[in-house]
Amino acid sequence: MKTAITEMFGIQHPIIQGGMHYVGFAEMAAAVSNAGGLGIITGLTQGTPEKLANEIARCKDMTDKPFGVNLTILPTLTPPDYPGLLKAVIDGGVKVVETAGRNPVELLPPLKDAGIKVIHKCTSVRHSLKAQEIGCDAVSVDGFECGGHPGEDDVPNFILLPRAADELEIPFVSSGGMADGRSLVASLAMGAAGMNMGTRFIATKEAPVHENVKQAIIAASELDTRLVMRPLRNTERVLNNAAVERLIQKEKDLGDAITIQDILPEVAGVYPKIMQEGAMDEGAWSCGMVAGLIHDIPACEELITRIMAEAEAIIARLGALSKA
Ligand SMILES: Cc1cc2nc3c(=O)[nH]c(=O)nc-3n(C[C@H](O)[C@H](O)[C@H](O)COP(=O)(O)O)c2cc1C
Repeated sequence: MKTAITEMFGIQHPIIQGGMHYVGFAEMAAAVSNAGGLGIITGLTQGTPEKLANEIARCKDMTDKPFGVNLTILPTLTPPDYPGLLKAVIDGGVKVVETAGRNPVELLPPLKDAGIKVIHKCTSVRHSLKAQEIGCDAVSVDGFECGGHPGEDDVPNFILLPRAADELEIPFVSSGGMADGRSLVASLAMGAAGMNMGTRFIATKEAPVHENVKQAIIAASELDTRLVMRPLRNTERVLNNAAVERLIQKEKDLGDAITIQDILPEVAGVYPKIMQEGAMDEGAWSCGMVAGLIHDIPACEELITRIMAEAEAIIARLGALSKA
């Protein structure tokens, strides 16, 4: 299938694996790219430019196909070494960068000079238009359903995607709630040129996370995620667990007076314990409502091949419908 996104990134299928903290290691990105999608290494999980350079080199050992690096721009007290991370991306010959979080305007000049394509992840039409205005090549439009940070507008993809299509000139992919061939065809119908998936890719054979994480996604229904940190305007969709219930209770008890310090035990430094040690109640971890559509743990190649076959079959069925 050829779309503006497959053409832009030089990939076979219009399917992207979004950056995921403590999931987007070289093994994950290479497996998705080898299956014809676009795999993405999560820059901030590596933390330092040296480690990121090493991860990029490891990914290159595992795939000859294009892959990307996610640079998430967070409001932190001790910001990561963004110039150093950028240099690692550029020197590593990476062809695509997924930016997310704050406005990436300061990262763009060096990326553009190096001929790197930039796809910015946005949760609203106004942020998508801003990304277009500052020179991003594409956007990933992340609906309210998504795992991770859905923003504060709460607009689901059935509205957000056609709204983005009506306003944007640059290509965009759908993100949030995407799992299968139905998701892909629906995204294309609403004007997207492909789809980005997070949670679905965690439940794959190659995802380098503890088996407990994969099983938790399989066991979860679409009712099992919660929104946390809304009072801090840093809303995150996470899978419910004991730590999340504790966090939500603190939000109820403290109201608007809550600060990040109050919830540090539930959110700070919990990812390695969950993703690597499988300690599922250690803290809040991002997970999409799409968990309700995930029932197996295929290899990435099997997953992407299946999605594309389903999509082709749906397109044929719809085509036949219009002729009937
Ligand atoms: C465990 C997990 C960690 C994530 N970490 C990041 C991250 O570090 N940076 C980022 O831009 N997005 C992150 N995301 C968001 C994904 O890239 C993607 O936008 C989102 O998962 C799409 O929604 P879906 O889970 O419904 O497919 C994360 C998502 C998950 C599930």
